[in-house]
Amino acid sequence: MTILVTGATGTVGRQIVNELIRAGASVSALTRDPAKAALPEGVNVVAGDLSQIGTLDFTGVEALHLINFAGDDYSPLKNGQAIVDLAVEAGVKRVTVLGGRADGELEQALAASTLEWTLVNPVEFMSNTLMWWAQSIKTEGVIREPFGGRLSAMVHEGDIGAVIATVLTQSGHGGKDYTVTGPEALTTAEKVAVLAGAIGREIEFVELTPEQAVEKWKNDGMGEETIGFLLQALGNTPEIGYTVTSTVEDITGRPARSFAQWAAENASSFH
Ligand SMILES: NC(=O)c1ccc[n+]([C@@H]2O[C@H](COP(=O)([O-])OP(=O)(O)OC[C@H]3O[C@@H](n4cnc5c(N)ncnc54)[C@H](OP(=O)(O)O)[C@@H]3O)[C@@H](O)[C@H]2O)c1
Repeated sequence: MTILVTGATGTVGRQIVNELIRAGASVSALTRDPAKAALPEGVNVVAGDLSQIGTLDFTGVEALHLINFAGDDYSPLKNGQAIVDLAVEAGVKRVTVLGGRADGELEQALAASTLEWTLVNPVEFMSNTLMWWAQSIKTEGVIREPFGGRLSAMVHEGDIGAVIATVLTQSGHGGKDYTVTGPEALTTAEKVAVLAGAIGREIEFVELTPEQAVEKWKNDGMGEETIGFLLQALGNTPEIGYTVTSTVEDITGRPARSFAQWAAENASSFH
């Protein structure tokens, strides 16, 4: 059976592909630019753009993993119904969707379809730490963020990939909505301490006021919408973001990986 992974060159998609290859599945990976994809040996790389229905071909695909956004700005797909229709026509049996900020046309079209589909909703990725923190740790040994007491049940991106790969290759997950978290909820200050331990270097945590954070994010070149999203997500994290679930172990049979494990695996990126 062929499994087609979209978003395959992304943080989560690469993990899904690796898990499926390890499991011996036949994997196709969709990308807008095959020349840059750098996917593992054995993966059938196919060119396509989810926002352009004419570029997609699901022939021979039994299970399909979908992202729900249309480009690098993560704007929601506007052709979700057409994608679902194409999947039904091609005889796709099983679909997973990586949950994003909100449900859109894709999720609605899937809910109204006969497809066996599963929404996999991760909380904050541990790998965000690379994007947010690596630079200032490397150059100054400092992290500047607001809301130091904020709790997050951050999840290892490999565990998101493992859950999705399992759901794609097993029956029985249709109609489910899985929230995927790590094994514990940590405050930002605790995360900083764990990371400092892993890299063997002190990290100073400077807690910004929300106003200082907005100023910093503006200076970093962030747009208003992203700043608004961050203020809400960090300052008022919804309960789902800090409530530990047992999804990883329930679905994969392996315990969820801790932030300490993630930090040890990625320590070299902070030097
Ligand atoms: N970061 C978090 O803490 C967090 C938490 C919960 C949920 N999420 C959700 O996770 C998702 C992001 O996942 P990620 O971090 O794995 O992605 P990512 O690393 O940002 O990679 C983006 C992927 O999307 C693909 N892509 C973008 N536009 C496309 C299009 N029009 N057609 C086909 N492929 C397209 C890219 O493929 P090519 O460039 O190769 O074409 C790439 O593989 C978002 O929905 C976000 O809301 C994130």
